[in-house]
Amino acid sequence: MPMKLPFFKSKNEERFIQSEELTNVPEHVAIIMDGNGRWAKRKGLPRIAGHKAGMDVVKKTVETAVKYNIKVLTLFAFSTENWRRPKQEVEYLLRLPKEFLHIYLPDLMKNNVRIETIGDFDSLPDYTKEAVRYAKEKTKNNDGLLLNFALNYGSRDEILSAIKLIMKDFDEDKFSLEQLDEERLSQYLYTNHLSDPDLLIRTSGEQRLSNFLLWQSAYTEFWFTDVLWPDFNEEIFVEALMDYQNRSRRFGGI
Ligand code: IPE
Ligand code: IPE
Ligand code: MG
Repeated sequence: MPMKLPFFKSKNEERFIQSEELTNVPEHVAIIMDGNGRWAKRKGLPRIAGHKAGMDVVKKTVETAVKYNIKVLTLFAFSTENWRRPKQEVEYLLRLPKEFLHIYLPDLMKNNVRIETIGDFDSLPDYTKEAVRYAKEKTKNNDGLLLNFALNYGSRDEILSAIKLIMKDFDEDKFSLEQLDEERLSQYLYTNHLSDPDLLIRTSGEQRLSNFLLWQSAYTEFWFTDVLWPDFNEEIFVEALMDYQNRSRRFGGI
């Protein structure tokens, strides 16, 4: 009788699923990368060790997104509310983009990844802005995955800023009240050049949006896992993608 082979046979054959086996891949995936602090605590390490470990997982997650042909990957890296953390942790978090890009920019170039950000960019420290500006410029002609970091991003802040800009343009007679519709409002958001996220993943067991993409996630599919961000990997990502395949998106229709 033939032996039933285990799914993971040997190191060489180790695989989760071939990219062509996945149909209906979400075009835009957004991830709330949560749980770095708890991961570190469990290991008896300082919180920043969790953030550092989380950074390496970002690199692997980007590779998985490239592999499965995802078009846009939006990663929540720092929220407008994260300034409430101890000064040292805030500084560490805001230095991470520079470190990440210093190490991984060559790989991102090789993978044809374009880097962009959403959020209040001007209020970031110079060291963050310089590193990110450089990476955006360097990758601007890449036409593979769009890696979109939500950096100093908060949805309420985004919507409020949009309202202010809309009122200003309205005052300047750029459009009439009748012309203000969802489409036009969307044009004032940081995400004006992006489609709404199809799938939103949050790690660490929390089941909330924490001020992330409130307007844009009106019809997004949510997927939660208890896994802490530093333990997130391809297998779990694929689990989310496979789950997404079975969702029936109706957008209010039948
Ligand atoms: C996510 O991990 C990273 C950021 C919010 C920047 P946390 O630092 O929130 O980790 P927990 O939630 O405290 O475990
Ligand atoms: C959301 O995580 C922000 C990021 C992942 C960057 P938080 O850890 O800040 O969210 P809350 O405070 O648990 O809601
Ligand atoms: Mg958290």
